[in-house]
Amino acid sequence: MKKIGPLFLLIIILSGFTLNAQVRHEFLLQKGWKFTREDHPDSKLPEFDDHQWQQVSVPHDWAIYGPFSSRNDRQHVAITQDGQTAPTEHAGRTGGLPFVGVGWYRIKFNIPDHTPDKRVSLLFDGAMSNARVYINGQEVACWPNGYNSFHFDISPFIRPGKEITLAVRLENLPESSRWYPGAGLYRNVHVIVTQEAHIPVWGTRINTPVVKKEFARIHLQSQIIKPATQKPEAYQLVTTIHDPAGMTVATRTDKLTLYDDDTFKQDFIIPSPQCWDTENPALYTATSELFENGMLKDIYTTRFGIRSLAWGNQGFLLNEKPVKFKGVCNHHDLGPLGAAVNDAAIRRQIRLLKDMGCNAIRTSHNMPAPELVNACDEMGMMLVAESFDEWQAAKCQNGYHLYFNEWVEKDLVNLIRHYRNNPSIVMWCIGNEVIEQASESGAKLTLRLQNICHREDPSRPVTQGMDNPTAVINNNFAAVMDIPGFNYRPFMYPENYRKLPQPLLLGTETASTISSRGAYKFPVVRRSMHTYDDHQSSSYDVEHCGWSNLPEDDFIRHEDYPYCIGEFVWTGFDYLGEPTPYYTNWPSHSSLFGIIDLAGIPKDRYYLYRSHWNPDQETLHVLPHWTWPGKEGDTIPVFVYTNYPSAELFINGKSQGKVTKNSSVKAGNTENKEDRQAFTRQKRYRLMWMNTIYEPGTLRVVAYNSEGQAVAEKEVRTAGKPHHIELSADRTQLHADGQDLAFILVRIVDKDGNLCPDDDRQISFTVNGKGNFKAVANGNPASLESFQTPKMKLFHGQLTAIVQSREDEGEITFEATAPGVKRSTLILKTQKK
Ligand code: GAL
Repeated sequence: MKKIGPLFLLIIILSGFTLNAQVRHEFLLQKGWKFTREDHPDSKLPEFDDHQWQQVSVPHDWAIYGPFSSRNDRQHVAITQDGQTAPTEHAGRTGGLPFVGVGWYRIKFNIPDHTPDKRVSLLFDGAMSNARVYINGQEVACWPNGYNSFHFDISPFIRPGKEITLAVRLENLPESSRWYPGAGLYRNVHVIVTQEAHIPVWGTRINTPVVKKEFARIHLQSQIIKPATQKPEAYQLVTTIHDPAGMTVATRTDKLTLYDDDTFKQDFIIPSPQCWDTENPALYTATSELFENGMLKDIYTTRFGIRSLAWGNQGFLLNEKPVKFKGVCNHHDLGPLGAAVNDAAIRRQIRLLKDMGCNAIRTSHNMPAPELVNACDEMGMMLVAESFDEWQAAKCQNGYHLYFNEWVEKDLVNLIRHYRNNPSIVMWCIGNEVIEQASESGAKLTLRLQNICHREDPSRPVTQGMDNPTAVINNNFAAVMDIPGFNYRPFMYPENYRKLPQPLLLGTETASTISSRGAYKFPVVRRSMHTYDDHQSSSYDVEHCGWSNLPEDDFIRHEDYPYCIGEFVWTGFDYLGEPTPYYTNWPSHSSLFGIIDLAGIPKDRYYLYRSHWNPDQETLHVLPHWTWPGKEGDTIPVFVYTNYPSAELFINGKSQGKVTKNSSVKAGNTENKEDRQAFTRQKRYRLMWMNTIYEPGTLRVVAYNSEGQAVAEKEVRTAGKPHHIELSADRTQLHADGQDLAFILVRIVDKDGNLCPDDDRQISFTVNGKGNFKAVANGNPASLESFQTPKMKLFHGQLTAIVQSREDEGEITFEATAPGVKRSTLILKTQKK
């Protein structure tokens, strides 16, 4: 094995680029698009005058700019999944943003040095929705599903030396979604130019059939497209495998024969492989050079991980070790950025989730963006990649059922071919709470979709989220799944498990606890579907929906029942739409389910999950805040979320007693009304002082380890008068690429730095230097303020402002001002990669 030296690497990269430029040229269409919401049929024609259209960059979500309105997608429906029997008016169900209707995008571009023998493909990572694509006025493709990637050959429509006009018409129907879908070319558009003989888009498939400590066996299949005039024997493939450090660890050369069906099959042995897992996301690459009669025709790189998956009696095994899913479900929107994909925003989400101890994301309820999948590969986050929220039977009047029969197989195939080489994806999910659960033919449909997954990728298991346990157990719907996934009702897990043939069970969707960051409600009692005049839910983490529960009601099952392989909490982040339980209460328009709010600020619940999921890191979190003017003498319970077994609470130095987690509480004997109301299960995981009386001053918590030693301390003080703005950025060094983002937490604090927890003054921002103001969010699910105006009211003393780098490097100065408090400035630096 030989390590590539930096100079040699540089030469290879440079010459690789030259070769690549000759044989394969790929670029993104990001800048220079024109956009309109007007639907003119001639928009597809090259000569159409679009000079009055808006100039935009892609990824672009046309609806996130608002304005919010209850009329944007008013739905008069009964949400039967939520137990509603009569239709009611749902104003904010899809986020209250103007995504419904038509949008056109146009761009003109050239392919340098194009010759008729070259092949040009367009790859859309996702276009929302009902895409119709035109090249030089001719329709060349359509794809209804707004979340899926699709590609097609546009070579026949290209004239060498002539500019190409690409026009895309998108149309979002009303009542087509249960959440905010976004709108427009919200993911990237790629142009891929190859020789006539080439490896097509998603043309390789890599498996690691044998993974041992000593060696791994890699099997690579590379499909080729070749001119009809050439015989298979004219082709040779040279593949080199590089390890995560860039060292060559294997190479081989193979010739194609008549019997290979235009697909090279190559096997490699990698000694002492570095396995991909969530702690060490080791990534290898296979670089394949395709030769035709000795002439280089293509260079194609496949990134992959070496890892094994197994599932059965021992649960779910990654590299032969059982793992429990400590997962979250997430919708695709990025809060104030809408659906427009952004790498920095995605990576920030993953960083926050990993710190919480989360090891998996379920991409509910649709195909993920490649940026998410790649970031999960690199950062060590498992993914369950989902496809559909609807099959043949409707949940929404204009939902996917309109397309299911014609498109389901094409959609599944594209999802799987796109991502079958990504090690982070450990499972496919073919559906979420589909209506067919209750039908006799549902099991056959399940099997059909699961078989498509197995045909396209025999290496991963298939699951789906089922919320009708009684029906799916009686009609075999659940029995045919590789991994039965249940949404909610964890009290039925034992019965489901007893009746099903599979030896394991997954909580595909759990909790749906609801809370608003910083909003504490009294009295502190467990409540279901409770609504308040301020449109918030309690941050004491004691409220949930009619079908759902509190985090510990799931923790206890996944700990006590060995056949449970873990859970996916609904949801990691708040998302636009589904403001349950405020169905009819405009201006509520975003969810309260998130462990982290829409601004990306952790709610209290974050620390409860962290204390349980990341026990090796210290968590010592105290709630609520301790600034309650006018409530002197009132009962204000105090909760502590910690990984330590006990803690003692002091109010102004006076002990309120020591509380210890009660490990004798078990799942089996606590499923009754009294124990639910008494928070019996919660007592195993959170420390609660229910009768503490408020007096201004200091809350101090001392945590004890299992030997009874005091090991950590935390104080929360009553805040004084608002004094200044405090700023902190998630990253202060950005890439000068015009895409990178810094997320700046903005807080109002007193002179000693204590958060003023109910301050809601408006903060204004200015950004100077080598960056731009991008967006702002405060996490209030009922706020109608624009995400793009550089000012916003605080929500419980905090908000997040987002700054974007430019392409020239240097400094960015971010300044925040507000009446009555001292302003603050933060300097960020940007550098070329
Ligand atoms: C589930 C559903 C999710 C979301 C959630 C809210 O039933 O699968 O999409 O609606 O409920 O609790």
